[in-house]
Amino acid sequence: MASPVIRVEYEQPAPSGRLDRAANESGAACDTRHAWARVPSEPSAAERAALKDRVRRLLVERDAVMVSHFYVHPDLQDLAEETGGIVSDSLEMARFGRDHRARTLVVSGVRFMGETAKILSPDKRVLMPDLDATCSLDLGCPEDEFSRFCDQHPDRTVVVYANTSAAVKARADWLVTSSCALDVVRALTAQGQKILWAPDRHLGDYIRRETGADMVSWQGACIVHDEFKALELELLMKEHPGAKVLVHPESPADVIALADAVGSTSAILGAAQRMDATEFIVATDNGMLHKLRTLNPGKTFIEAPTGGNSATCKSCAHCPWMAMNGLAELARVLETGAGEVHVDPSLGLRARVPIDRMLAFTAALKNGQPVGAIVDGIGAA
Ligand code: 13P
Ligand code: SF4
Repeated sequence: MASPVIRVEYEQPAPSGRLDRAANESGAACDTRHAWARVPSEPSAAERAALKDRVRRLLVERDAVMVSHFYVHPDLQDLAEETGGIVSDSLEMARFGRDHRARTLVVSGVRFMGETAKILSPDKRVLMPDLDATCSLDLGCPEDEFSRFCDQHPDRTVVVYANTSAAVKARADWLVTSSCALDVVRALTAQGQKILWAPDRHLGDYIRRETGADMVSWQGACIVHDEFKALELELLMKEHPGAKVLVHPESPADVIALADAVGSTSAILGAAQRMDATEFIVATDNGMLHKLRTLNPGKTFIEAPTGGNSATCKSCAHCPWMAMNGLAELARVLETGAGEVHVDPSLGLRARVPIDRMLAFTAALKNGQPVGAIVDGIGAA
């Protein structure tokens, strides 16, 4: 039976001419485009058990390891961990895939995650359950228009979010994920560099507020996080006065302003484990709830509202493209080798430069080493 296809609206800043600084900073230059997602139907209990056995066997036979994101189906998260793979945020997915000895990486997530894995490990085979799983940030930042935006700001260091195509990464000085964006921009700002940021407008604004960076920003948005509503969140907080609020920084500024902790998916998990509250309201994709609940059995996790008076009612707080990753698709690509990610080798070499910088920067930070030398001389200043 064919999987149902759902239509998805996303925003894209209007093409050149309107991509001047004022238009981007006001956020007025976006228009609506359409994409789609093919979401597999849920297997029966018997089918699930059989598919999981098949995947376990194929992982061994194909010398493969699973690399899953926190937003994919719980089965793909649990199976990854059970078989020696990883479930994590996008930064750790990249690092794990690069460092693992398996010859095949099976990336359950969205396209940019598979591409990053391939760029970092060009000699490995990288498979994805569905190569059409994309991201509104990637779709909303086409390379040619982004390149024109960069050309308009030659004096700025280009910092791009991981949720972008290989071609956009190749144009960047730095790549960041939400777990290291503040640290990288702070270090660049300390060196007097001015920043060109893309593509997520909310994360960009958050970075600017937190670091005081001189930034111009692309105006993309995540269709999931853009829908969290501050007004309704405040009402929910009144109903749960002891609850701590955990927010992913792709959310709007008025939602971030209500947070007790703001950060990447891993940072949200860490905050939930660290904080001694028993109730949490979570403003991120609800795929995250699986890990939050299994690692914190005594705590209650409530989804932040995406509906209500101020809502457009587009969102169910689950990424339609993350939802394209299913057990049957995973087993199929392992069996047949379909769903292989390819990145043009010369493009991959260029895109790898900012990714390697990010991985070197975050490794130094983790080991308590100075990051100044890594940042020094890289960028427009
Ligand atoms: P993380 O890097 O926090 O896992 O985020 C990736 C993503 O796509 C969030 O929507
Ligand atoms: Fe992209 Fe948002 Fe989906 Fe993450 S949740 S992959 S940012 S559309």
